Amino acid sequence: MDNRPIGMFDSGVGGLTVYKEVLKRYPNENIIYLGDTKSFPYGSKSKESIINLTKQGIEFLLKFNVKAIIIACGTATSQALDVVKNLYSIPIIGIIESTVQYISQNSNLHKIGIVATAGTIRSNAWASSLLKLRPDLEIINKPCPLLAPMAEEGWTNNEIAKLAVKEYMQGLYDVDALILGCTHYPLFTDIFRENLKPNAEIINTGTMIANDLENKLGKKLLCDSSSNGNSEIYLTDTECNFLSVAEKLLNNRNISPIRDALFWAKHLNFNNK
Ligand code: DGL
Repeated sequence: MDNRPIGMFDSGVGGLTVYKEVLKRYPNENIIYLGDTKSFPYGSKSKESIINLTKQGIEFLLKFNVKAIIIACGTATSQALDVVKNLYSIPIIGIIESTVQYISQNSNLHKIGIVATAGTIRSNAWASSLLKLRPDLEIINKPCPLLAPMAEEGWTNNEIAKLAVKEYMQGLYDVDALILGCTHYPLFTDIFRENLKPNAEIINTGTMIANDLENKLGKKLLCDSSSNGNSEIYLTDTECNFLSVAEKLLNNRNISPIRDALFWAKHLNFNNK
């Protein structure tokens, strides 16, 4: 058993959808969350930039003596996980593998839709991992570049969000499962549902990670405390809507203290590319 915190990071508020699912299942874990709001959005950046930002995020989290890191970001998982896994000795978990395992074991799922950022879709990471285990799958990829910025803005259930999701969902109505390949997208779940056939499954990668965490980390890395854990949230820029979106997402739970990571950001030379 290991009571050190788990580190998590994303470009902004999206990774909190993973945070929420992990805490639902493991409320006693301590979490250090980094939202790299200064470099948001990741989805439109080059692979090289994403690798650098991911390394900086990991190095920031390592200062807190974290026992493992969850890259709660589809863009960073799809373009940087393979690289950073070989650079650091602690376990680093991305958002793709647990979902791919789940789909590979569900033979009733044949047609899969993947909605994600432009960078994630360009990397082809989802489709290639899925097809390795299930070559029979029919896969439709759909980049949705407007959705993460809208989520950061808190626009997840207004008329503009409905129109944007409807447009992106063209051709995806009859998929058996829709993978929300960007961690911001669970914020639009209700609208995605309106654009899918009734029995289609919507896959929140945070739920998949939470279900698979013990398997990934092993029992000895989980926390054995009987009381609720603590979370600390750091942002690389506080001039954003993070707080209001986060409070809504976490059902008005008091998420303070949010600590400003600008000092660290400077120290680490964040976003220096
Ligand atoms: N939440 C992110 C993802 O899962 C990043 C979105 C962005 O920064 O563009 O891809």
